[in-house]
Amino acid sequence: MSESPSQTGASDDARFVQIVDVVKRYGETTAVRDVSVSVRRNELFALLGSSGCGKSTLLRMLAGFETLSAGRILIDGQDMADLPPYRRPVNMMFQSYALFPHMNVAANVAFGLKQEGLPRADIRERVAHALELVQMSRYAGRRPDQLSGGQQQRVALARSLIKRPKLLLLDEPMSALDKQIRQRTQIELVEILKQVGVTCIMVTHDQEEAMTMASRVAVMNEGEILQVGRPDEVYNYPNCRFVAQFIGSTNLFDGRVVEDEPDHVYVESPDLPRRLYINHGITGPLGMAVSVSLRPERIAVVDQPPTGDFNWTEARVANRAYMGAYSHYHLVLPSGKAVTAQVSSAMPGEALPAAGATVYLRWGASAGVVLPA
Ligand SMILES: Nc1ncnc2c1ncn2[C@@H]1O[C@H](COP(=O)(O)OP(=O)(O)OP(=O)(O)O)[C@@H](O)[C@H]1O
Ligand SMILES: [Mg+2]
Repeated sequence: MSESPSQTGASDDARFVQIVDVVKRYGETTAVRDVSVSVRRNELFALLGSSGCGKSTLLRMLAGFETLSAGRILIDGQDMADLPPYRRPVNMMFQSYALFPHMNVAANVAFGLKQEGLPRADIRERVAHALELVQMSRYAGRRPDQLSGGQQQRVALARSLIKRPKLLLLDEPMSALDKQIRQRTQIELVEILKQVGVTCIMVTHDQEEAMTMASRVAVMNEGEILQVGRPDEVYNYPNCRFVAQFIGSTNLFDGRVVEDEPDHVYVESPDLPRRLYINHGITGPLGMAVSVSLRPERIAVVDQPPTGDFNWTEARVANRAYMGAYSHYHLVLPSGKAVTAQVSSAMPGEALPAAGATVYLRWGASAGVVLPA
């Protein structure tokens, strides 16, 4: 992926933040490999990837806490090279929140403005406004240790927003919160950021969090960005095996392209007794090795053999996990391949195939996604 930086120095809304061919090396380790991506003005952009893939390193380079080994970063058309953190139009909210323990909430939020030497009345007004925004006005006099995790997070957010940064960086903003309050907080945070109208890059290893909150997601692995897109794009049209498996869960069938037309392909896989039919063409030579991704919810479990000579197979139910709204079927194909299907719950009382039962799996022509092997 390569984008050329704006030559004029002017910024357009689509490229409010430009990260261009950025590399970060620590001795032998390359933490960030040639990353290029642009973030739009006022969008909530998520960097998603597993531990150690370089997310925080990229964020720290944006904030100016780390130098670049190569590449450029521009914010609103301005090159950040040689700008120290405090001169960048950026604020970073750390994973730990880093609130001052001896100061009350209001003093924590006011801190940055006091350092700037703003008149007291202005500070008071902006602190009151920021606390109102995060619904923490009632707690202005409390110390951080007298607050819940979620309340501390809102104080940290108020403190980050009060200096009106052009770019807000959030490193794992939910990591200190219990699972129950996370979901509510995710939605609240998105609402607050919308109200303020700030561009935000968030780091998370939690794909549900990224999908819930972000307008676009960048999936990272080993220092590289593999795919950038809206949550539904990276879910429905992953561009590689890693993304298909990282975003949600999937079944991968390795095989070869045996027919490739503009409007369809057939793939033969040793794991399946019949060919896979997919209703879009691909570009690549016949016989090319590919993987076909089939999401569990795109597979139907039926008790009668379907007709036709593609997109179905017999299977044995290894076990079924009833989840309420749906069931997870763990199935084994005649080839020995394990497959997972997710089936919406039937009407109460309707019989479900149990462990050991023979069933048939079928899927539609648009269910499979062909990926490079
Ligand atoms: N100061 C440093 N010196 C040497 N190596 C470092 C340094 N900081 C990070 N690394 C290495 O760079 C890689 C990326 O680290 P980074 O902190 O960016 O990961 P991350 O994606 O934020 O992971 P996590 O989800 O665990 O926070 C890791 O292999 C890490 O060990
Ligand atoms: Mg990190």
